[in-house]
Amino acid sequence: MSQPLIAVEKVSKSFGGVRANSAVSITVEEGKITGLIGPNGSGKTTLFNSIVGYHPIDSGSIKFEGREISKLLVPQIARLGLLRTFQQTRIYAEMDCVQNMLISVPHRNATLTDMFRAYPAELQDEAEHLLEFVGLYQKRHLISGDLSFGQQKLLEFAMALMNKPKVLLLDEPTAGINPTLINGLIDRLKRANQEFGITLFVIEHNMRVVMNLAENIYCLAHGELLAEGHPEEIQNDQRVIDAYLGAH
Ligand SMILES: Nc1ncnc2c1ncn2[C@@H]1O[C@H](COP(=O)(O)OP(=O)(O)OP(=O)(O)O)[C@@H](O)[C@H]1O
Ligand SMILES: [Mg+2]
Repeated sequence: MSQPLIAVEKVSKSFGGVRANSAVSITVEEGKITGLIGPNGSGKTTLFNSIVGYHPIDSGSIKFEGREISKLLVPQIARLGLLRTFQQTRIYAEMDCVQNMLISVPHRNATLTDMFRAYPAELQDEAEHLLEFVGLYQKRHLISGDLSFGQQKLLEFAMALMNKPKVLLLDEPTAGINPTLINGLIDRLKRANQEFGITLFVIEHNMRVVMNLAENIYCLAHGELLAEGHPEEIQNDQRVIDAYLGAH
């Protein structure tokens, strides 16, 4: 088998007395959609934060394309093509959608002094094209703080695509999205994977979504890896069922 795009090996991370991740090992295969599930507080976001360099890990190894990245910082890892979105969206509320798109690619920015007029027309076109891709074209000149929460998440997804990542880590992309719009979002995530060739690693609480999207799913519970498998295996895994039932 070819080398995985991301290889997390025995990663542990504690916050004071809380062991958020305990010797977690997972792999993300290039070109695929991998899912990450687990009850609230099971350590999913912590694992994402460790992978993208948001905080140092206590022990273990994280490799991207075979290279150790666990000592690198967020911008260094982003430059390698590994990006994430947040559980709570991070957009510039006072700017419109197109401006948010342009500001999300600082390394492709022509000059800093004349920020908006300095962007080349091709970047503007790309921004509009991606806003159309996520269904926000009609809203492109609206101040993004005035978008609904679901629309802000779509904008954040488009902003991530603007960076042409090799792999995108999505933290609960459908949370807060109207159920009638979720199928459209699943379709866009699949298209980003298939048409743009972006490997996706997706945290998701909505079981229908993750079972539909991911080829391989990992389940965390209490910071430890509980199970791994194809959707049908995970769905029928008694340990996974118990972890979710036990969480309520
Ligand atoms: N910066 C931090 N400081 C202290 N504790 C933290 C920090 N980040 C996470 N934790 C703790 O680590 C544990 C795992 O949290 P994490 O956010 O990774 O869970 P999660 O699986 O993403 O949960 P959810 O599904 O609710 O988003 C929790 O007990 C949480 O309180
Ligand atoms: Mg989380």
